[in-house]
Amino acid sequence: MKLINVCGARPNFMKIAPLMRAYRAHPGIAPLLVHTGQHYDEKMSRLFFDELEIPRPDINLEVGSGSHARQTAAILERFEPVLLEHRPDAVLVVGDVNSTVACALAAAKLGAAVFHVEAGLRSFDRRMPEEINRVLTDAISDLLFVSEPSGLENLRREGIPEHRIHFVGNVMIDTLERCRERAAASGILEALGLEPGNYAVLTLHRPSNVDDPAVLAGLVGALEEIQRDLPVAFPIHPRTRKSLACAGLENRIKAMSGLRLLDPLGYLDFLRLMSEAAVVLTDSGGIQEETTILGVPCLTLRDSTERPVTIAEGTNRLVGMDPDRLLAGYREARRQGRRSGRRPEKWDGRAAERIAAVLADWHR
Ligand code: UD1
Repeated sequence: MKLINVCGARPNFMKIAPLMRAYRAHPGIAPLLVHTGQHYDEKMSRLFFDELEIPRPDINLEVGSGSHARQTAAILERFEPVLLEHRPDAVLVVGDVNSTVACALAAAKLGAAVFHVEAGLRSFDRRMPEEINRVLTDAISDLLFVSEPSGLENLRREGIPEHRIHFVGNVMIDTLERCRERAAASGILEALGLEPGNYAVLTLHRPSNVDDPAVLAGLVGALEEIQRDLPVAFPIHPRTRKSLACAGLENRIKAMSGLRLLDPLGYLDFLRLMSEAAVVLTDSGGIQEETTILGVPCLTLRDSTERPVTIAEGTNRLVGMDPDRLLAGYREARRQGRRSGRRPEKWDGRAAERIAAVLADWHR
């Protein structure tokens, strides 16, 4: 089977890495790797290829940033000739970013099979661009690889035939397990002068949190309080850096003596930073999953999650974007201290192997 694998944005790289490795055990699978170029900064892309030992992409579409329509359209337009040239049997996409839906659509229109890894997740909030990407990608996928039980339920409710759905576990956790030892050797805490168990980590990049100046100002206010209690390491996404500048909040950020504002970190440094944190505050999807496995309390700055298993079994709690609720959640997490959740079913570091085995058996 000639299989084109697609990655484009930072959270895709941890998911594609174990798959590219797992294909090696199956000589019947001939993989190609396409990078759409949705993320392109050294620290948002290249660094991850090096650290996660992902093969260099065979093709880079170099689409870069743009509005949703422009970015999605550019990927569609540039991916189609790749499909026409290579004539793959199937295209595998991961996650829920614009690259995911665009490449799935181009492939389906040309008659290639579409495989979606991390299918079935639903926040039920259509204001999130990722929710639109998830719903559309799943609707045109031939095989849907699911990471948690809610995904199974959602796909069944949407009428996806059972034979297309495979509950395989979480490829993101494959990467976490593989990298844990190497991450433990990272010197990031020492470099930042942080003590294990005695600092918080913050990440923030959702448009709903960072694109609205009033919401962002509220979060900055809460951060002012938190960093008085505990040092906060904040590796900042390029989108958020721009939003802080546009909202005129840079001076308030600079004035916080407990805040360590950092450039985006590589995977290994960030994994070490998360592992030893007292608490993680985030609006990312993947971090809710990683903290569940690391047993670090996670406060999610959103009103919904498409990953409910991290609440039912893990360490995650939704605190929304309201500063008072966020601070109440923070105090509660500090009182409780570290608590280990249960490991969700099949989050065992072998999800990519299961996927590769299904693919090796697949025929139309
Ligand atoms: C994208 C995904 C989001 C994912 C996030 C992880 C979509 C709709 N969103 O959001 O689901 O959680 O990636 O990071 O696909 N930029 C740079 N350098 C880069 C990449 C982006 O400076 O390498 C800046 C650009 O100003 C760009 C902005 O960040 O306009 C946003 O990038 P974009 O890819 O549109 O979305 P993300 O917010 O990164």
